[in-house]
Amino acid sequence: MNTPVHADVYTHGHHESVLRSHRWRTAENSAAYLLPHLTPGQSLLDVGCGPGSVTIDLAARVAPGRVVGVDVSAKVIDVARTAAADAGTDVTFDVADAYELPFPDDSFDVVHAHQVLQHLSDPVAALREMRRVARPGGVVAVRDADYSGMTWYPPSPGLDEWQALYQEVTEANRAEADAGRRLLSWVRAAGFDPAGIAPSAGVWCYATPEDRTWWADLWADRCTKSNFAAQAIDHHLADEVGLELLADAWHEWGAEPDGWFAVLHGEVVARA
Ligand SMILES: C[S@@+](CC[C@H](N)C(=O)[O-])C[C@H]1O[C@@H](n2cnc3c(N)ncnc32)[C@H](O)[C@@H]1O
Repeated sequence: MNTPVHADVYTHGHHESVLRSHRWRTAENSAAYLLPHLTPGQSLLDVGCGPGSVTIDLAARVAPGRVVGVDVSAKVIDVARTAAADAGTDVTFDVADAYELPFPDDSFDVVHAHQVLQHLSDPVAALREMRRVARPGGVVAVRDADYSGMTWYPPSPGLDEWQALYQEVTEANRAEADAGRRLLSWVRAAGFDPAGIAPSAGVWCYATPEDRTWWADLWADRCTKSNFAAQAIDHHLADEVGLELLADAWHEWGAEPDGWFAVLHGEVVARA
């Protein structure tokens, strides 16, 4: 990974269990709030694009417009390039830092970031940079989860502990797990015209047997195998036994026929 301007730590990393979660994302399930603002021919920049599934999907909405995805991780940019080639989509993927986008002012009609600001120690600086590369009258669109706003059933002390540990690890990384509720304030602090700001909320829900198993299995793996696990240990916030117990709690929840999990997100579309 390149050294970002603010030397932030990306809590999740790019283990297979993390990419399994990111690859599920589509324009429909992760950027529905933005879709009414897209028209064919627009240029679009996706900041912190990860493996690129949302970027590639958005490209279909603005084709034949120019679409670029950037991420600070060279490893995940390689994954995104392969995905674009497999999809036969003409999207450019490059390594770049959200704090220092390598584009002139006023370059794109749409500048988008999904689940990125929550990982930055200075999300307002990144939003200013996104606004700089958006053309006047263009759109900056951001969406982030809000971990304290996540709800599940049945009650699970193990998932309560997972939630508490996630908050501690992100705090140690100077990141904000409850970003969703703060997006509006960050966009306002970045200096966008209040008259051009449209806030909303969106939800992912995992409650079918298939979705429940997928979500539980990937979080169980993330608790023991991803950067999240390594950082929890490095920060002395958990040990391997404790992380295995969290993984067990996820598997137990995933096996519950009544299991239901909702992920609340904040969303903002702001005119540049
Ligand atoms: C949770 S993932 C979201 C990926 C993708 N947007 C999606 O929703 O599937 C966050 C991504 O932001 C990237 N990232 C973190 N800090 C960054 C920075 N300063 N500049 C650019 N990308 C960054 C990470 O490498 C990671 O791929």
